[in-house]
Amino acid sequence: MFRIVHKEKLSPGIDLFEIEAPRIAGHTKPGQFVVLRLHERGERIPLTIADNDPDRGTITIVVQEVGKTTYELGTYKEGDIILDLLGPLGKPSHIDNFGTVVMVGGGVGVAEIYPVAKAMKEAGNHVISILGFRTKELVFWEDKLAEVGNEVIVTTNDGSYGMKGFTTHALARLFEEGRKIDLVHAVGPVVMMKAVAELTRPYGIRTVASLNPIMVDGTGMCGACRVTVGGEIKFACVDGPEFDAHLIDWDELMKRLVYYRDLELMSFERWKQ
Ligand code: FAD
Ligand code: FES
Repeated sequence: MFRIVHKEKLSPGIDLFEIEAPRIAGHTKPGQFVVLRLHERGERIPLTIADNDPDRGTITIVVQEVGKTTYELGTYKEGDIILDLLGPLGKPSHIDNFGTVVMVGGGVGVAEIYPVAKAMKEAGNHVISILGFRTKELVFWEDKLAEVGNEVIVTTNDGSYGMKGFTTHALARLFEEGRKIDLVHAVGPVVMMKAVAELTRPYGIRTVASLNPIMVDGTGMCGACRVTVGGEIKFACVDGPEFDAHLIDWDELMKRLVYYRDLELMSFERWKQ
């Protein structure tokens, strides 16, 4: 049983939860995730460990409400109990001194790039974070990413804050300015990660994407998270979730993500009643 010790609204529809989980907190590495089940009748969903504090024995998750489980979690308050947290799962990010690293986060992906950006900076990299949101009121963690990196660029689709446009526009501008970039790491909506991969491909810049396929067990047994990378079948929960973005079959991933949409909607409607 895992107790929520702190809850905070980061932006409309996005909540932060700090949860007591001492064993996970002590073993987590950047890029890893947990599989959470709220209660006996709950579904299992994967969520990135956005931060951990081994001294307090807590982990932090940042959750966007998109369907039944994430909306239900949004109703949980400080002091409430989560039945299961399995983790840390997945391969940690490859952290090294690459030179200049650009971290690209879209929406809730901004929380997911935080631990990796922090570790990249500690490893001696010059870290540029590009944070993309639809509009100003959705912006969060600009300050946190600034604390652990060297430069932060915020983009909003409607131009209400920071640079107008998508994260890829900010990345393209860095290329136009002739900046030397050694690694790009992207987390966010699949369309964004695919666009980042297409942008860096002609420059031959190593690009990593953290994938978000549907997952069930999170331990390599059910096959739900199957993705194709470089023509080979991989299970994102145990072989990933990070892969070479230039080798990912993005179209297959997009198709598989919407495969259960009708059932997901039905389950959400039932829960609301
Ligand atoms: P569902 O009813 O399952 O789905 C509702 C809608 O969301 C549907 O339209 C569906 O197509 C879409 N959806 C479902 N699953 C996903 C998915 N995996 N990715 C994108 N869209 C999806 N979300 C966060 O908010 N914060 C995180 O830190 C985070 N980390 C993740 C780490 C990993 C390794 C993976 C695989 C996913 C992560 N996700 C994260 C996505 C999160 O798991 C899903 O949003 C969640 O499972 C949706 O559950 P639900 O019951 O609320 O909605
Ligand atoms: Fe079941 Fe990856 S979630 S194999």
